[in-house]
Amino acid sequence: MAMKFPVEAFSSIETPFYYYDVDLLKETLAAAQREAARYEGFHVHYAIKANFNPRLLQIVAESGMGADCVSGGEVRAALDAGIPAEKVVFAGVGKTDKEIALALDAGIFCFNVESLPEVEAIEHLAAQRGVVAQVAVRINPNVGAHTHSNITTGLAENKFGINYEQIDEVIDLICSMPHIKLVGMHFHIGSQILVMDDFIALCGRINELQELLHETRGLVLPHINVGGGLGIRYDAPDKYPVPDFDLYFATYANNLKLYPGQQVHFELGRSIVAQCGALIARATYVKKGTCKQFIILDAGMNDLVRPALYDAYHRIENLTSQKPDGVYDVVGPVCESSDVFCKDRRIPETQRGDIMAIRSAGAYGEAMAFGYNCREIPKAVFSTEL
Ligand code: LLP
Repeated sequence: MAMKFPVEAFSSIETPFYYYDVDLLKETLAAAQREAARYEGFHVHYAIKANFNPRLLQIVAESGMGADCVSGGEVRAALDAGIPAEKVVFAGVGKTDKEIALALDAGIFCFNVESLPEVEAIEHLAAQRGVVAQVAVRINPNVGAHTHSNITTGLAENKFGINYEQIDEVIDLICSMPHIKLVGMHFHIGSQILVMDDFIALCGRINELQELLHETRGLVLPHINVGGGLGIRYDAPDKYPVPDFDLYFATYANNLKLYPGQQVHFELGRSIVAQCGALIARATYVKKGTCKQFIILDAGMNDLVRPALYDAYHRIENLTSQKPDGVYDVVGPVCESSDVFCKDRRIPETQRGDIMAIRSAGAYGEAMAFGYNCREIPKAVFSTEL
């Protein structure tokens, strides 16, 4: 079901704000959970980094999903939303002692460890507490995802994960530590991936590695975490409001060679929350230049940074006007020339005061907002409160 916009109700709300369609969010969560449940031992952890709005997290928690966290703050947000600690995984290259301590005290399911010194830090803090920490080694699978270079993480030269050549050393180290239990392997190849071939390539790598560990060490780890990365259709949010979870999970089910009883974990962010959210703004001015026309919104790159940071495409709709199209650059008010949402885009003729929707902004929108130029972080409005 496509996202609905109660335009009448919007007219009395101060812009800019993030709007979330709760029905679409719930439908998406249900679809992901339903399709994962078709395969025994598949578990979905919502990647909190995509959107940590507490009300949205509560709805995610109600769906029964676990959480994938990358900071102590995210671990706390997951627990506060009611996600049980035993469904929380904690990744990140720079976990501080304070963050590790918080996660140990909460009793999270698993740390995704990304370096040798991190393993030592966890051992030390777990020993102090007299507990045993469960860890999965994050392995750099050296599989390139066909997406923007800033959001590709699976290649060897990234800061993330541990390289193939170091695997033996890390496993030896972990096995020598009394307060750490190695329970799994973790992978993540990147984000906004729409080509299943990339996930199939990852499965191939995982199969190779599993075979190697089995043959050389007789080792079979109970948990395989394949990370996240399923993309969404930014070009057609109404045609594809819910991603193809059926195909996504089937791809893993058909290509991963699992040993009996092995559990598979997924860390999905964007695909869960992107399409249910939009940034709603008003046209403050429409300015005619010599060759171009600009729609100047009251929302800027500080509210939604993806176009400025990644050159990302978001559909922009005029919710007020049904007039024939004009051609516009849509920009924000921030004092940076990169504060541009799109260039030379066909949009219905727009006037000062028109209400505009920047679509597919539920993921990495509100979560990445910042206060540059003393601008306020946009508020969130949920469809259920209108
Ligand atoms: N797991 C790990 C280890 C990750 O690094 C990420 C995302 C995810 C899971 C979730 O990936 P997703 O399912 O959302 O693709 N700010 C960028 C995206 C950065 C993604 C970072 N890592 C954007 O706006 O496109």
